[in-house]
Amino acid sequence: MKRTTFRSSLACLMLCGAATAFADGSRMPPHPDKTWLEECGTCHVAYPPALLTADTWRRLMAGLDRHFGSNAALDAPTAARITTFLERNASTRGERNAAASLRITDTRWFTRKHDELSPTVWHDPKVKSPANCAACHRNAESGRYDEHDIALPNVRR
Ligand code: HEC
Ligand code: HEC
Repeated sequence: MKRTTFRSSLACLMLCGAATAFADGSRMPPHPDKTWLEECGTCHVAYPPALLTADTWRRLMAGLDRHFGSNAALDAPTAARITTFLERNASTRGERNAAASLRITDTRWFTRKHDELSPTVWHDPKVKSPANCAACHRNAESGRYDEHDIALPNVRR
């Protein structure tokens, strides 16, 4: 485990696109917007803005009424406020997700970070979906994703 972790950190140093880690190891912006936390952290964890580009956030925010099969529509001022917050804290490294996808879990960055996991893990009943970060990252809620904060549920790897 140690060695592979080292290897992936090395690979990451060379290849990693997105995702700024902040000084305290959290991927949360230093001053998370409260409205964003409330509106975007109820159905799933509030995904760190640094995991997608501003362009992708804008596209996502423009289609909240058909949000991955859910209706997450907001009134215009609230949506505008959240969009501004996401844009300001977005990835600036140009990491793009595959084709027209709006998913963090479709980025090359995500695939690389998770390449040690068997694909069957994602569909385990205890995980349900790769988007369910908190199934394995026990402090995802507060934006902490580093290896010390991972507790894999008892699944086949
Ligand atoms: C009504 C519930 C609901 C609300 C509110 C909601 N979402 Fe979602 N969101 C979902 C569902 C359902 C998915 C798909 C999850 C899955 O594939 O397992 C999703 C997926 C996502 C994804 C893609 C995750 C991946 O696979 O990488 C992003 C990004 C996202 N939401 C951002 C937001 C933002 C930003 C807001 C606030 C404006 C928000 N969501 C509010 C239900 C919601
Ligand atoms: C099935 C469990 C699982 C799910 C679900 C999952 N991850 Fe991970 N994640 C892992 C494992 C295991 C690693 C690899 C740790 C290592 O290599 O040391 C990892 C690595 C990471 C890393 C790199 C940590 C580091 O210190 O380098 C980040 C960031 C991350 N995941 C974010 C996410 C986000 C965001 C989501 C949801 C959109 C997510 N993960 C969903 C298990 C998961």
